[in-house]
Amino acid sequence: MRKLILKMLFSVLALSSFNLLAQEDITAQGEEVYMARCEYCHGEGLQKGGTIMLHRRYGDSKPAVLHQRTDLLPEYIRNIVRTNTPGMTPVRITEVNEKELDALILFLTRNNP
Ligand code: HEC
Repeated sequence: MRKLILKMLFSVLALSSFNLLAQEDITAQGEEVYMARCEYCHGEGLQKGGTIMLHRRYGDSKPAVLHQRTDLLPEYIRNIVRTNTPGMTPVRITEVNEKELDALILFLTRNNP
């Protein structure tokens, strides 16, 4: 009986650390998508279009650099990425597929409270 309980405990632990690892992998994948598709407009430096516009909009009340934000909701990011907004053309499914967008969203929301 004790062995069985230990075995069960071990599998639960193994499974949850596996999940954690998988999540880290996906976040890292999301960061790659971000670096390739978003960073040139949203990265550090007030010469980048997205950073300039967001700095203008929020001043010092929020970080102008997108990947430093902690208040972006998944559905909001998805909408902005897929629909036409002033200043930012939509990103097509052939450029960033749904799986990549999920990973990207996980990366951008990784520090959300
Ligand atoms: C060509 C430059 C450009 C690229 C590439 C770009 N963006 Fe943007 N993005 C902008 C600009 C400019 C704004 C601000 C628009 C405005 O002020 O209405 C913006 C706004 C946003 C916002 C809204 C932030 C807020 O506080 O409302 C999100 C979210 C966003 N972008 C996500 C992304 C993601 C994710 C990617 C990569 C897939 C990306 N953007 C690629 C230029 C870009």
